[in-house]
Amino acid sequence: MLNAEKIRKDFPVLERKVHGKQLVYFDNAAMPQIPVQVRDKVNEYLRNGRANVHRGIHVICRVLTFTAASNVLGTINPAREMIKRAHDAGALTIVDGAQSVPHMPVDVKKLGCDFLAFSGYKMLGPTGIGVLFMRKELQEQWNPYLVGSDMIKEVHLYETRYTDPPVKFEPGTPNIEGAIGLGAAVDYLSSIGMDSVRKHEEQLVKYSLDKFGSIKGMNIYGPRDPKIKGGVISFNLADIHAHDMATLMDEDGIAIRSGHHCAQPLMERLCIPGASRASYYIYNTEREIDVLAKSLERAKKIFNVV
Ligand SMILES: Cc1ncc(COP(=O)(O)O)c(C=O)c1O
Repeated sequence: MLNAEKIRKDFPVLERKVHGKQLVYFDNAAMPQIPVQVRDKVNEYLRNGRANVHRGIHVICRVLTFTAASNVLGTINPAREMIKRAHDAGALTIVDGAQSVPHMPVDVKKLGCDFLAFSGYKMLGPTGIGVLFMRKELQEQWNPYLVGSDMIKEVHLYETRYTDPPVKFEPGTPNIEGAIGLGAAVDYLSSIGMDSVRKHEEQLVKYSLDKFGSIKGMNIYGPRDPKIKGGVISFNLADIHAHDMATLMDEDGIAIRSGHHCAQPLMERLCIPGASRASYYIYNTEREIDVLAKSLERAKKIFNVV
């Protein structure tokens, strides 16, 4: 198991007070905080002299390497069957890994997908950078649809030869600071281990379901088995509007999210205007879930839920 109390020391923002209360940050599905290790790595690059990638031989260019994210790509199981069926129908498959790669081991080989994309900022990295995995054979068969500097091996008047993949798909000067930060984030998560990250979130979800399950009027959406549930508790308490709930929780120093969560069709299917959502990550603790439970009790009193 990971040590969340120790990890918290890498995230000084968690010491912040909000409305005089200790911050409880439960909006991690939207955007987790950044550890000092990622911040320092980006600062170090900016401080020591920046340069472009691949293009030069001076010392500053030479220290720049792009990080492979393969070591965090370690299984999303239901997706595997869907990918197989899509392939049987002759389709290519792209997996949106934005909410899986930061939270569990994901093995693109076992999945068998053609593409998998995820965002850096959802896994302790900076914004504006992400990863697109592309199956090796496709990398070789496909040509880029955007062109720019650095992707050219030879240019003649009537013929162009691209460099080897993946560089041929990376035209122009990339987001170097972002890539360095994402590399540091990958290293940070790898040092914890994605299995431990997943187990920690499973434990927090189990604790939450046990704790909130007995609160009268509490509707928790999604599966009740922590083994098949992400590190997210989406809920409504009686008929309290999610935005009212989020406002009240903010007064208690708790950052949750309220609204449609980019899933308006699901909200329509559930016949609800929206939901509140607490989403967990490596630095969250059972103690913080107790704070949220207390805030729910306060909401019950304020909104006169019996
Ligand atoms: C499943 C999923 N896909 C994609 C995105 C959007 O990612 P980005 O902000 O990098 O476009 C999100 C953001 O919340 C997400 O949860």
